Amino acid sequence: MGQHWPDNCRVEQGSDVSSVSPKVMENYASQAFLGSYLYTDWGDVVLPEAEPDPRLARAEPPIAGRFARATADLVTQWWPSAEPPARVCDVGGGTGRFLYEMARRGFGDEDRVLSEPADLFNVWARRMLCGEAFDGWLPTPPRDSERPDFRRVNLADVPKPDSKATVYPVPAEQVPRPAGYFDLVTLLNVVDRVPDPRQVVSAAARLLRQGGLLVIASPLAYESKYTDEANWISDLHELVPTDEWSVIGEHEGVPYEFLYYDRHLTRYYSQVIAATKR
Ligand SMILES: C[S@@+](CC[C@H](N)C(=O)[O-])C[C@H]1O[C@@H](n2cnc3c(N)ncnc32)[C@H](O)[C@@H]1O
Repeated sequence: MGQHWPDNCRVEQGSDVSSVSPKVMENYASQAFLGSYLYTDWGDVVLPEAEPDPRLARAEPPIAGRFARATADLVTQWWPSAEPPARVCDVGGGTGRFLYEMARRGFGDEDRVLSEPADLFNVWARRMLCGEAFDGWLPTPPRDSERPDFRRVNLADVPKPDSKATVYPVPAEQVPRPAGYFDLVTLLNVVDRVPDPRQVVSAAARLLRQGGLLVIASPLAYESKYTDEANWISDLHELVPTDEWSVIGEHEGVPYEFLYYDRHLTRYYSQVIAATKR
């Protein structure tokens, strides 16, 4: 479809940093895992309803796009001024669906940045947000726990390139923007997939201007293979101390779902909080 890869989707090499869990990166290198994410993130956009896959229809209610849309609605509701934020960054933005929702709402019209250190996720974020060409075959939830599956999408359904989006294959602390640059920084379902949630929040906070909004979502589904037990938290408020942050929005549980394989649907409920930087 004559797609191109605009300059704004340049790749910068990341280096090994401690805010990334090696075990998480190992998981996110699997095509089967990727298929579950791509379906959750983009199924409603790129898999045409006219030709439903009966296996995917087992996910009831329809899960595709649900978390990103619901969370984007909350952020829009909580955003504290009449003008939408000009510069937004989604840290650990996966395959880019939330940044796409920000663009649809006119958020980040000066600069929309996605940081995503997992290679395969980064590649798919560039395909979905930046028009990077691909053959039209989309990994989808596997038939069983081992074998990935694929469906051909209509390339006309792939979102048009977002000229304001830049996708970087780097973790939070390597986002190539100055401290205090962004109006809005989001950290969605990341703090339970890093060795230390406080470290990644502090890297995200550094990017945010004073008065800017930090939005954190997480099902707090901690696992010791990803996060040192000493760093587990049970409520997101623990990450935004009141001497540094004012909490202005909270939601107890946005559904966050994955069809891990044909017969395994998982639903988390992500706590979501929004806090302005003092
Ligand atoms: C559970 S996924 C969430 C993806 C997406 N935000 C969502 O809500 O679906 C966690 C993501 O965090 C990314 N990640 C892990 N450590 C990170 C770090 N230190 N900085 C930025 N992203 C990180 C992973 O690569 C992964 O894509």
